[in-house]
Amino acid sequence: MSSTLLRTVPALRGALRASAVKPAAALASTSFVRGKATLPDLPYDYNALEPYISSKIMELHHKKHHQTYVTGLNTALENIAKAEEKGDFTKAASIAPLLNFHGGGHVNHSLFWENLAPASREGGGEPKGDLKQAIEDDFGSFEDFRKQMNTTLAGIQGSGWAWLVKDKESDTLSIVTRANQDPVTGAFVPLLGIDAWEHAYYLQYENRKAEYFDAIWNIINWKTVAKRYD
Ligand SMILES: [Fe+2]
Repeated sequence: MSSTLLRTVPALRGALRASAVKPAAALASTSFVRGKATLPDLPYDYNALEPYISSKIMELHHKKHHQTYVTGLNTALENIAKAEEKGDFTKAASIAPLLNFHGGGHVNHSLFWENLAPASREGGGEPKGDLKQAIEDDFGSFEDFRKQMNTTLAGIQGSGWAWLVKDKESDTLSIVTRANQDPVTGAFVPLLGIDAWEHAYYLQYENRKAEYFDAIWNIINWKTVAKRYD
């Protein structure tokens, strides 16, 4: 993609930054093969997060929903490249929101799968070491952080995500929300994301989304969060 187009379309720049920056930590498994996004394998079986997230939800969420973002991202990239070849920057700009949506969806879900682990393995419990200290410094206690995250999740209207993020400049932690599939970009490093879209819980929890937000703490992979923090 040419630098001209990137200058032309700020939203594109954001989405590409999201998929290009911090490959070693924040986006360890966001997979691209020969410039194409691919669906990453899950690091556990579909039924491994039960009873907190059902096998059926995991299968649909990964195989159908995440795959749709991967396919949509590749299509958007191809169509932007075609428009760019023709010098049609208006068309390229019109595709930018799709790149943000599907690119964000791919990045967010890739991070999300790594944020989870079976409760029988490293899932659940509380963070340790520097991350634990940082959470206590910035939120008071782990329990206060957990409550604040759940309140934030409950307050999301429509589809979106809540993230524990680290500010690169100040090194402080905070909680932010993103609507739809907007990725976390700029000064923030995404450490822990929780998917608050209905597709993440509805089949199992129906309208009781607070139960899903409570249950998910049993399967948080704090080792991954700590790795991103370091
Ligand atoms: Fe999702």
